[in-house]
This record gives sequence, structure tokens and C-alpha cells, in this order.
Amino acid sequence: MNRAASLFLGIFLTFTFAWVGLVLVPYFQFGRVTDLVSEDTGQTLPPPLSGLAQRGHEVYAAQGCVYCHSQQVRGETQGSDLARGWGARRTVARDYIGERPHFLGTMRTGPDLSNIGRRQSSAEWHHKHLYHPQTVSPGSIMPAFRYLYTLRKIAGEPSADALHLDGADAPPPGWEIVPTPDAKALVAYLLSLDRSYALPEAPTD
Ligand code: HEC
Repeated sequence: MNRAASLFLGIFLTFTFAWVGLVLVPYFQFGRVTDLVSEDTGQTLPPPLSGLAQRGHEVYAAQGCVYCHSQQVRGETQGSDLARGWGARRTVARDYIGERPHFLGTMRTGPDLSNIGRRQSSAEWHHKHLYHPQTVSPGSIMPAFRYLYTLRKIAGEPSADALHLDGADAPPPGWEIVPTPDAKALVAYLLSLDRSYALPEAPTD
């Protein structure tokens, strides 16, 4: 075989192996995965997002939360995610079936958020945290997302959504700090993040 032919064969085999490994094998492994209906509860798994949470999913993407937070829980043999309390089980392909884009993430500057809705189910906590992380999580290095909140004059009754802030964060008398529609949607999305349901390929016990 002359040198040009062996070079061509080498390149061809390199690309073929890569294609088999990165396209064909995953296709046969995951190509037919669908959501399923739980026999116990009749609920669709993974549960579909509400309209507001779906909108929050877009805010999460736009704010770049994925640059610091992953949404994937590794199994016992691959890391200490379960021991850290980030989930009741490892996450699997089916958990992301309806999500476009999914937020598996690669960076963990902050904790994994796969199950944050279960771990922290208070909307008030999330709003305070986004407004000024250090007030609810001392020493936090997470940036504040204050521009997702509005300072406005109280007209008549104070809003039921107003944040209860103390100290330097407290608004001047007669004023209140309320979440924008984007902040409300983002918190609805965070509260929806609960992947603690059991799947056949990832049981919880
Ligand atoms: C620059 C990195 C960075 C970015 C960007 C970031 N975070 Fe964080 N986040 C952190 C760190 C660090 C912590 C841990 C300290 C704390 O609780 O504040 C954290 C904690 C959290 C927690 C609490 C997790 C727990 O287990 O208690 C939530 C919820 C959260 N972030 C949501 C968000 C959302 C939503 C966004 C996007 C709007 C975001 N973060 C963007 C770094 C980041």
C-alpha cells in the first residue's frame, strides 16, 4: 500500500471510530428514551414544567446560571454528590428528555441544582438569595441579581410579593422592593427542580 492510501485509511478510520463512539453508540443507548407514566401515581415522569417555570428556564439560560451550577447528580461510585445531599439518586438521560436546552453544566462554583426545589422550597428564600446572596448564605461568592427586582413607591397597600429585607438592604419608608416577572419565573423554575422521583433505571432505594 502506498503512503497516500495508508494516510487516507488512517484518517478514515479515525473519523469512523469517533462517529461510532460519539454518534452511533449514544443513538442506540438513548435514541428511544421517552418520558413515562408512573404506575403508582399516574403522573408523567419527568413531570412537565408549568408555563411560568418554562419561562424561568429561559431566564436561567439568559442569566448564565449554568456557568456556575451543574444539574447532574453522579452515582455513588463516581463521586460524593449523593453524600453531599444533592439528590436521592443519580440523574439519568430520561431526566432531561423534554428540556431544550438542558443545563447539565460543567462548572460547580456553586452547588448542583438538580434538586434545589426539594432542598430549598421557600420562594422567599430564593428571592432574598438572588437579591443579596450573603444575607441568607453568609460568605457566599455568588453574584447578586438585583436588576431582577424593582424598587417602587408603595401606592395604597404594600404588595404581597414585596421582599422582607433588613439593615442596609431595607427600602426607604414608603417604598418596597418587588420581583420582576423574570425573577418570579426564575424562582418558579428553581422550585420545580426536584428529580427525586424513582425511575426504572434509577431507583431511589
Ligand atoms: C459566579 C458563579 C455563580 C453564578 C453565575 C450563579 N451562582 Fe448560584 N451559587 C454560587 C455559589 C458559590 C453558591 C453557594 C453559596 C450560596 O449559597 O450563595 C451558589 C448558591 C446558589 C443556590 C443555593 C444552593 C444551595 O444548595 O443552597 C441557588 C438556588 C443558586 N445559587 C441559584 C442561582 C441562579 C438561579 C443563578 C442565575 C440567576 C445563579 N445561582 C448564578 C455561584 C454562582
